[in-house]
Amino acid sequence: MDKELSSIHYDQYLQLQKILDAQKLRSEEFKEPAHDEMLFIIVHQVYELWFKEILHDLGSVMDLFSEGAVEEADIGIAISRLDRVVKIQKILVDQIDIIETMTPLDFLDFRNYLLPASGFQSFQFRQLEVSLGLKRDNRISYTQCAYSGVFSQKEQDILDALESGDSMLELVEKWLERTPFLQFDNFDFIEEYKGAVENMLISEEEAIHSADYITDHEKNLRIRMLGETSSYFNSIFDKKSHEDNLEKGKLKLSYKATISALLINLYRDEPLLRQPFMFLQKLIDIDELLTTWRNRHAQMVLRTLGQKIGTGGSSGYDYLKTTAEKHRIFYDLHNISTLLIPRSALPKLPAELKKKLNFTFSLREE
Ligand code: HEM
Repeated sequence: MDKELSSIHYDQYLQLQKILDAQKLRSEEFKEPAHDEMLFIIVHQVYELWFKEILHDLGSVMDLFSEGAVEEADIGIAISRLDRVVKIQKILVDQIDIIETMTPLDFLDFRNYLLPASGFQSFQFRQLEVSLGLKRDNRISYTQCAYSGVFSQKEQDILDALESGDSMLELVEKWLERTPFLQFDNFDFIEEYKGAVENMLISEEEAIHSADYITDHEKNLRIRMLGETSSYFNSIFDKKSHEDNLEKGKLKLSYKATISALLINLYRDEPLLRQPFMFLQKLIDIDELLTTWRNRHAQMVLRTLGQKIGTGGSSGYDYLKTTAEKHRIFYDLHNISTLLIPRSALPKLPAELKKKLNFTFSLREE
C-alpha cells in the first residue's frame, strides 16, 4: 500500500453531509411546504442508489462474460452477484408500499412543482435496461422523439455506446453457443431429444385413446390439443422456423444458443451443468422481477394519478402497463419450459459423456 493508512470518521467515509443535504423540497422553496415531498424525494434517491449498486454488480458479471471464454470458477461469482441483484430488486418492488402511503391528494400538493421531471429522465434505469439487452427498436414509443432525447449529449453517447456493445443477453447467447456436448461422439443431442419427444407424444396419444373415463368428443379435443403441442416442438426441430421467428422479432436467442439452454435445463441434475442452470435461473429471476416492478409501479401510478398523463408526457398508466408486457428481455429463457419433457422420458446419456459431466472425484457408480 503506497499511501499511509489514516483513520476516518463514519460521517466522512459515507460522505453523509452530501447525502443528507440533498433533499431540497421545491414546495418549501415556493413557500407552500408539502409534508410528503420529503418521502417522494428520499424514495427516488434510495432507488437511484440501488440502481448504482445493480449496475456495479451487473457490469462486473458482463466483464466476466466478455473475455471470450468464461472461467468455470467465474460462473459461481456471476451467480452470487446476480443473486444480490435479485435480492435488491425485491426491495425495489417492496419500496412501492412505502410510496403508496402518500395519498393522491398528498401528491397533488406538490406535483406541479416537479414538471417536467419524470422517471423518464432516470439515466441509470435506462443504462440498466440497455445493459440487459433492451434495444431502441423494441421500445414502446410514447412520442415521436428518441427515448434518450431527455438526456445530455454526453449521456446519450454513453447509452449509444452501451447499445452498440454486447448486452447481457448477447453475452449469454455467445456463451451458450460455446456450450460443448451438443454433439458428443455418436450422441447428437437434438436428434436424441426429437426421438424422446416423439415417443412421449405417441404414449400420450395412446393414453388418451385407451382412457375409458372420457367421452369420444373429449378424446378428439385432447388429440387436437396434443397436435398443437407437437407443432410447437417442431419449431425447435426446424432451424429454419426458428430463424423466421428471429427475423419477425418473436425470438431473440439464436438457434444454437436455444438448443444449449434446452440441454442445460434438461440435464441440470448433472453436476457440471448445475451452475450454468443456476446462472440461467438468475437471469430469469431478474427479468421476472423487473416485470413485477413495472407492473407494481404501473398499478401505483393508476392509484395515484388515475388516467392523468405523466409529468414526462406519456399516457401514464397505459404506457407503463404496456412496457411491462413488451420490455421483457429474457423471454426465450422463460420459453424453454415449453420444451421440457419429464425426467423419465429423457434420452440416456452415453456413459463417457455422463462421466465428463460429473465432478472428477465422484464416487457414484453409474
Ligand atoms: C407517486 C409516485 C410516482 C408516480 C405518480 C410516478 C409516475 C410515473 C409516470 C406517469 C411515468 C410515465 C412517464 C411519464 O409520463 O412521466 C413514470 C415513469 C417512470 N417512473 Fe415513476 N412514478 C412514481 C414513482 C417512481 C419511483 C419511486 C421510481 C423509482 C425510481 C420511479 C421510476 C420511474 C421510471 C424508471 C420510469 C420510466 C419507466 C419506463 O419508461 O419504462 N417512479 N412514473
